[in-house]
This record gives sequence, C-alpha cells and structure tokens, in this order.
Amino acid sequence: MEQGKKRIGILTSGGDCPGLNAVIRSVVSHATLGYDWEVLGIPYATQGFIDRKAISLNVHGMDVHGIDPLLSTGGTILGSINKGDTLERTQDIIDGYKELELDALVAVGGEGSLAILHDLAEKGNWNMVSVPKTIDNDVPFTERSVGFDTAVSTITDALDRLVFTAASHDRVMVVEVMGREVGHLALHAGISGGADVILIPEIPYSIDSICHQIRELRDRWGRRFAIVVVAEGAKTESGESRSYTDAFGEVRLRGIGEHIAEQIALCSHVESRVTVLGHVQRGGVPSPLDRLLGTAFGKSAVDLIAQGLYGHMVAWQNGKVVPVPLSQVFAKQVRPVDIQGDLVQTAQAMGAYIGELSKSQ
Ligand code: F6P
Repeated sequence: MEQGKKRIGILTSGGDCPGLNAVIRSVVSHATLGYDWEVLGIPYATQGFIDRKAISLNVHGMDVHGIDPLLSTGGTILGSINKGDTLERTQDIIDGYKELELDALVAVGGEGSLAILHDLAEKGNWNMVSVPKTIDNDVPFTERSVGFDTAVSTITDALDRLVFTAASHDRVMVVEVMGREVGHLALHAGISGGADVILIPEIPYSIDSICHQIRELRDRWGRRFAIVVVAEGAKTESGESRSYTDAFGEVRLRGIGEHIAEQIALCSHVESRVTVLGHVQRGGVPSPLDRLLGTAFGKSAVDLIAQGLYGHMVAWQNGKVVPVPLSQVFAKQVRPVDIQGDLVQTAQAMGAYIGELSKSQ
C-alpha cells in the first residue's frame, strides 16, 4: 500500500435485498475517484475474514464491456450470510480483519447484523461505518433502509395481479408477506395495492372482525372477493403468531396466511386461497429509489471515513443523509409501525380492517 493511501473494506451482511450493489458501486466510485483509496470487497461478510479472502474492487473492474450493471442488479456481488454461527470464531474474524491491513470498513447490514458487527468492531478496534439495508425497514433512526422500496413494489405488483383472479372466482386472496416483527411492508403495500384487510404485528387482529369485514364487503357493497395482506409476524389478541422450527433448529415465522385463510373460509363460507410471497420479495431489479438511496448512503459512508467519524451509521431523515452513532441505534428496539401515524389512519380511511387498534400496546 502506498504511504498515506487508505485501504478500506466493504461487506454485505444479513438477508440480501435489491440495492446492495448500488451501495457497493457508490463506495468504490467515491473512494477511488474522490479520494484515491483502495477498496477490498470481503466475500460473505465475516466468513470472508475467517477465510482470509478479499477481492480488489475498482471502478473499471465492475463493468462488462464498458457497461456497469451494478445499479440494476439485485442481490449482492459480495455474497452475504444471514446467521450468527461465525461468531463462535470471534478472534479468528478479528485476526482476519487485521491481516488485511484495513484502515476502515463499510458494513452494509440490517439491524441484527449491524449489532453483531458493531460488537466485533468494538472488540477488534475496527474503524467501522455502517449502511442500513433491509426489506423490513425496521432499523431505528432511519426512515428508509435500502431494499424496502423495491420489496413494496414487488408486493404491490402481486396484489395488482391477484385482484383480477380474486374477482373472477369470488374468492378471498390471502397474501403473506415478510417483515419479521414489524409491519412496514404489509402496511405500505397493503395501502398501495388497495387491500381490504391489513394485518401487522403491531396491532393484534381478531378473526371475528376479519369475517365481519368480508361479510360487509358482500352485504353492503355487493363485492364477493377480498384481498387480505398479512405480515408473517401478525398476532392475535392473545399474542399468538405462527412459526416453525427448520432443520437447523432455527425458528422461522411462517403459516399465518394458511391459518387466516382457513378461518375466513370457516366463518364466511367464501373460498379462500393463500399466496406466500417469500423470497420473491427480496429479489428483482432495484427500484430507482433504492438505487438512489444506496448511492447516497455509499457516498456518505465514504465521506464519514474521510472525516474519521467512525462508529456511525448513515441514516435517511427528512430527505437528507445524516450520521447517527451506532451506540444509539442499538440502544433502541427495531423501528415499529407508528400505530397512531398517518399511514394507519389512511388505511382505515380507505375502509381497510387493520386490527384491533384499541387493544394494541
Ligand atoms: O429480515 C429480512 C427477512 O427477509 C425477513 O423479512 C424474513 O423473515 C427473513 O429475512 C428471512 O430470512 P432467511 O433469508 O434467512 O430465510
């Protein structure tokens, strides 16, 4: 490494989402063109440190015949991991980081992986800045995380398609969407796609009220079909949700769609069908907004390193990118839907049933 020339690393951690490659592209462009630094990509997040692997990234190495595909491709060219088992090798990860002789690291991750990386950064004395990404949009202090907008578009597109087949067969279509313990995806897409029922973890639901809504649509408006959007983490009034344990012993949220559809069929005698959108929501071409956000975040992360403002995350607040100390981010729980907010009121004003608001905490 030339004297005085910085070498920075970048990794993507946690579940992938559209827009990650826009962040990588932006970091590489700004670091190399703006500051003349060297950029190393760390494959598969902390696994890359364990394996002592790094890829040299430079602006003109990321194109195909002069065309740069990164803005418009989903996933992450660096690969990612979505489980914490590498943590059993904390010292190995810290040693791997040291061996790469990095001056700083850009960590792109969601709430869970950023917390893990922040802890590693403290233990290993890393100069780390972070970029929030997750289709769940639940990272505290940022109104938007990379990947959310594209996932909302994907779900909305699915609802636009399902409404026609629902209407043709007089059926209730139940659509289960991701989001873990928060309902931003379900609420945004539910409003954008005109859903009749929107169920989110922040507001408990009652089967009786869902059935009442389906009957009202038929008896009052003559509408014999309905669209129900349910977040995978939605809960009953007694706090019950649906999950299963996978072959690796991990508990995963799944099955709420089937449950709701069955209950609707029983109480309303209307045929119901379930669509679990699953990982389709994490794929696809990033939306213009996610490309823009990823690019603005990547550029600002590089500027934070130039200013020596480590231990910070770039965040989107009131139309601006601002730095937030990571210690503050993790002092908070994930960012839930504001149940008193405009969007919940908007969904209600559109006639959607959104749960038992008076019974939410
Ligand atoms: O956090 C993003 C997310 O897509 C959640 O919405 C979902 O529950 C989870 O990741 C799925 O994780 P995995 O890719 O490990 O199945």
